[in-house]
Amino acid sequence: MENINWSELGFGYMKTNGNVRCEYHNGAWGNLEWHTDEYINMHMAATCLHYAQEAFEGLKAFKGKDGKIRIFRLDDNAARMESSCDGICMPKLPEGYFKKAVLEVVSKNIEFVPPYESGAALYIRPVLFGYTPQIGVNPAKDYMFIVFVSPVGPYFKGGFATTPYVITRKYDRSAPLGTGMYKVGGNYAASLKAHESAHAAGYSSEFYLDAKEKKYIDECGAANFFGIKNNTYITPKSTSILPSITNRSLMQLAEDLGLKVERRPIPEDELPTFEEAGACGTAAVISPISKLDDPETGKSYVFSKDGNPGPWSTKLYKKLRAIQYGDEADIHNWVTIL
Ligand code: PLP
Ligand code: COI
Repeated sequence: MENINWSELGFGYMKTNGNVRCEYHNGAWGNLEWHTDEYINMHMAATCLHYAQEAFEGLKAFKGKDGKIRIFRLDDNAARMESSCDGICMPKLPEGYFKKAVLEVVSKNIEFVPPYESGAALYIRPVLFGYTPQIGVNPAKDYMFIVFVSPVGPYFKGGFATTPYVITRKYDRSAPLGTGMYKVGGNYAASLKAHESAHAAGYSSEFYLDAKEKKYIDECGAANFFGIKNNTYITPKSTSILPSITNRSLMQLAEDLGLKVERRPIPEDELPTFEEAGACGTAAVISPISKLDDPETGKSYVFSKDGNPGPWSTKLYKKLRAIQYGDEADIHNWVTIL
């Protein structure tokens, strides 16, 4: 292992000691196995390559001041992977496999968990896909589950700082009865054009309205949206967004901090009333929104006049990070200590 400059880490892939895998054949999952190879050998007609029969997860492990390693909301990520598998006709993992695989891959890559002071974390990426060679559009008969890890720094350069977002009306990432609520690769392929054009125009990320009416807020790229006003944390209810585990945690912390919490459709018209707004997810934690432009209507919604994150977003961010790093008591039982 080379010397890693932990505090300079971005959100990227780094080779580690190895990964944990498991295969499904003839209607049954095999055993979890440790592999040092980063590559997989698969047939060119594999189902995942052609028909995107693939789901993944993203969670993090944190090293605390006490030297302990904490994995955040492991059971919730396991449950969401099960839901994604069901959503695209893949077999679910046997009880306990997800957790066992994550614990094994983290323990065997323990030297890749960034130190407490760096503010970085170990990103854990479970992925499950069908790979039977076939050209008919049918669910595969053979599947592979892999969990690998990579140390990561902030998703957006600068970490907890406000950045601008832009509403896209040219592209949808998912439809109301589509696969938006599952963490499946196809949704991300569908987002690339919008993401590239937002980036090229100088924005952090694209921002989606609902695909049907283009009236309600859906997601901020690959993150959920929240807005805060009148001591209330408000986040969209929609069938085309991913149920974010970070957002679920923030709703609880908002309540703990004395805010009211509302999960309901948010019309674009309501945006000017928010005092603060942010994007949230495992990778970005909270990415406070400086402004949100809607180039087609010429509107621009400003959520930070001085360029700094707002007071509630800052409190929520600090509280969530404190629980993840073990600086604050884990009263909701979100953390698994390795
Ligand atoms: N929305 C999308 C589309 C995502 O890809 C993610 C990332 O996982 C999120 C929201 C945030 O979800 P979570 O907080 O569970 O990471
Ligand atoms: C998140 O964890 O918030 C993400 O959006 C993951 C992304 C890298 C797919």
